[in-house]
Amino acid sequence: MKQKEDAVVISQECIAPGVYSMWIKTDKIAEETVAGQFISVYCKEGSRILPRPISICEVKKEEKSLRIVYRIAGKGTEEFSTYTEGTSISILGPLGNGFFKREKSAMLIAGGIGVPPMVELAKELKKQGVTEIISVIGYRDGNLFLKEELEKYSQVYVATEDGSAGVKGNVMNAIREYGLKADVIYSCGPKPMLRAVKEFGLSHEIETQISLEEKMACGIGACLGCVCHSKDIDEHSNVRNKRICKDGPVFRAEEVELLTPDEQRERIASGIMIKKEEQA
Ligand code: FES
Repeated sequence: MKQKEDAVVISQECIAPGVYSMWIKTDKIAEETVAGQFISVYCKEGSRILPRPISICEVKKEEKSLRIVYRIAGKGTEEFSTYTEGTSISILGPLGNGFFKREKSAMLIAGGIGVPPMVELAKELKKQGVTEIISVIGYRDGNLFLKEELEKYSQVYVATEDGSAGVKGNVMNAIREYGLKADVIYSCGPKPMLRAVKEFGLSHEIETQISLEEKMACGIGACLGCVCHSKDIDEHSNVRNKRICKDGPVFRAEEVELLTPDEQRERIASGIMIKKEEQA
């Protein structure tokens, strides 16, 4: 059950240029978290009213602590990067649904700041008894943050855009190069990558789950500020929308359409998708 808590920063470190890892001591949130969920972190600076959604990277339930790994993407996350041990913060969570874990061979496909939630997922799948876990992770360059953590639980394959490590190109290049396969795909990362993963999964008849990212306002399903286009009509909004914060962030690939910005504008103009800016 989601709740707002006063939590405390246990530690924070920069693990790649502009990418930070923060461990947080919580009251109840860590105990209730499953892989793929996220928390909303509130800023201390009063002018930044909206909390920032950040995916959960790792959980230590017995210690009531959780780890978030985030990239500085604006003033809010820049503020978070200044927090040190003992800083008290307000967080809301755990939010969203998390991955639907199967007891089948797994391929975790992630790019950039989509990599963090895969660490907890790989850990939980291994704990659940899944023996074949592959991680295919893509980066811009040789800053392979969280690779070592994933290696504890899975066989890791790397792709980098500049070719400085692993296969040159993206995660799909690595999948093709090594001929990788699994019964279930779990994926998180930028939309173009997710589009390619969805196509690969559906064309190979592999169950494919994708975790979507979107700017959020309320984080709890009330404002429609984070919708994506869905195959079915949503009962809440009566149009083809899904709220990423509440119905997701994890969806079955066939449930949602991963539109380009131009396609999304067309859907909004034709009224089959609610214009987010009016609702947020
Ligand atoms: Fe408000 Fe998702 S952020 S509905």
